[in-house]
Amino acid sequence: MNNLVVHIRRQPSRTSPSAWQAFTVAIDPHSQTVLDLLHKIQWQQDGSLSFRRNCRNVICGSCAMRINGRAGLACQKLIAEVLEQDRVTELAIEPMGNLPVIKDLVVDMTKFWQNLARVDPHVVTGQAPLQEFLQTPAQRQQLQAASNCILCGSCYSECQAVTVNQEFVGPHALAKAQRLVADNRDQSLDSRLAKYSDLDFAWGCTRCFNCNEVCPVEVAPLDRISEVKQVILAAAQPSADPQVATAVRHRQTMVELVKESGWIDESKFGLAVVADNLRNWSGLWSLLPLGWRMWRRGKLPYPWQFRPSIAVKQIRMLIESVQKPKV
Ligand code: FES
Repeated sequence: MNNLVVHIRRQPSRTSPSAWQAFTVAIDPHSQTVLDLLHKIQWQQDGSLSFRRNCRNVICGSCAMRINGRAGLACQKLIAEVLEQDRVTELAIEPMGNLPVIKDLVVDMTKFWQNLARVDPHVVTGQAPLQEFLQTPAQRQQLQAASNCILCGSCYSECQAVTVNQEFVGPHALAKAQRLVADNRDQSLDSRLAKYSDLDFAWGCTRCFNCNEVCPVEVAPLDRISEVKQVILAAAQPSADPQVATAVRHRQTMVELVKESGWIDESKFGLAVVADNLRNWSGLWSLLPLGWRMWRRGKLPYPWQFRPSIAVKQIRMLIESVQKPKV
């Protein structure tokens, strides 16, 4: 048994300010989890400490909270592993981020569930079939990673896109969206792609990687979001929203230029993305000051001065292998 100091961010109610409170707990860090620690405090020191838990076995997702600054499941985190990984001797436990606190470590997840509903999280099949839908193992495999999700909210807690845009649906919802886009039984692909091709959906992701870092069950939400984007791009549905159209062109141009020469030709990049390949005159006009500065500093090569990478063939092969549809 060790005496461990743990700091918990307490908040008595929705409207009251929060404050850290320190507890000292006799615990075996090698066999007990953060959830065991919270139980010990609640049962032996302060019965008013509030937190959620249910299965105690990484199944229900109830016990998500911030542990030393990162969201995770309290029942999954062995204390010794957390201390070793973070190279600290004390623990700091807080409620999840991006969601309002109800009390102590309990957050209001209403917005989280509402955002999940925004991606229409059910398979649309039209008329009831006469027999069950059959899937091959390969078709089922495409849904596997997203199907692991236990909706704990860890990814949502750490999502930087949610922090800056409260209308962004969040990684959990987009992982579910991928599961439906990839499901061969779903008959609403076109309307799904039209909906997901938006800055509050797939194109709002800032690719910060936090969701992949904290996901406790290897859903890798960022990878799932990238898969949704790939399907949107492959379907080539132009968006009526100019901001979305620019975001789509940005991604397509980047891939095309790297495939062409092994790296990004900055002079072509701006013309393709901002000026929409010379179709957008106001975009072209807005590039002039930048073009002038680039030219003055020798960063705007004439086309015959731009040299492709010597590894262009290998780079192209790599991109094409990633782009090849997985069977
Ligand atoms: Fe169910 Fe932790 S208590 S996942």
